Amino acid sequence: MAKVKRVPLIAGNWKMNLDHLQSIAFVQKLAWTLKDANHDFGVEGAEVAVFPPFTDLRSVQTLVAADKLEVCFGGQDLSEHDSGAYTGEISGAFLASLDCRYVLVGHSERRTMHGETDEQLARKVAAAVKHGLVPVLCVGETADDLEAHGPSAVPVAQLKAGLAEVSGTPELVIAYEPVWAIGSGKAATPEQAEQVAARLRETLAEVLGDDVAAATRILYGGSVKSGNIASLMREPNIDGALVGGASLDVAEFASISRFSKHVGT
Ligand code: PGA
Repeated sequence: MAKVKRVPLIAGNWKMNLDHLQSIAFVQKLAWTLKDANHDFGVEGAEVAVFPPFTDLRSVQTLVAADKLEVCFGGQDLSEHDSGAYTGEISGAFLASLDCRYVLVGHSERRTMHGETDEQLARKVAAAVKHGLVPVLCVGETADDLEAHGPSAVPVAQLKAGLAEVSGTPELVIAYEPVWAIGSGKAATPEQAEQVAARLRETLAEVLGDDVAAATRILYGGSVKSGNIASLMREPNIDGALVGGASLDVAEFASISRFSKHVGT
């Protein structure tokens, strides 16, 4: 497989937290904190992205453009449709026109609380790609799945299903988030996360070829904090993190983003 140096990605999933005014204060402070620390937003450091609620995106876009901040942003979900009679849905076209670079697809909270199916998520992945967004496809097993099928069977099956409607060489990000680790304070060990990430990369190679597999960033998510990020990032197939709770604290999220500066953790 061709060796590609992937730019690490630290992504903050705010979930339903921080309104548009709070989002401006947060993003401003985050960007300043990283700038003060001379953060490298490239391969030696990490790209930093936030996923605020939809109602914040216009404010974040305006701030980022006005102050030329190096923080990326994206939506937490998108519709599989482009436009029309879909009350409450948000089109990928709208996200793209707000300069979103990314969009989360299939977070476990959407799969469980909103009944999103693998088939629907495949259409959302395709819609994201169609509108020039990079889908961050989330996959992960529950504690029951882990016991019944082992660690990688469910995430691999979800990944295969989620890629069913795309072809060619799309830019993708995959987030491996074991459901049992989300919000539990109990992250997967680096070895556990690496084992699944390696299987996910093999799956990408099988479905979309070696180049896509080599270029795609695979994130780990589930109780990531500044104290465990560095050891996770040492694993060869883990290219970043999707951070929930800890992404709501500027100092903590900035510290996670600066994992390459952590020593001995
Ligand atoms: P957590 O959430 O970091 O609070 O565990 C991760 C996520 O849900 O993406």
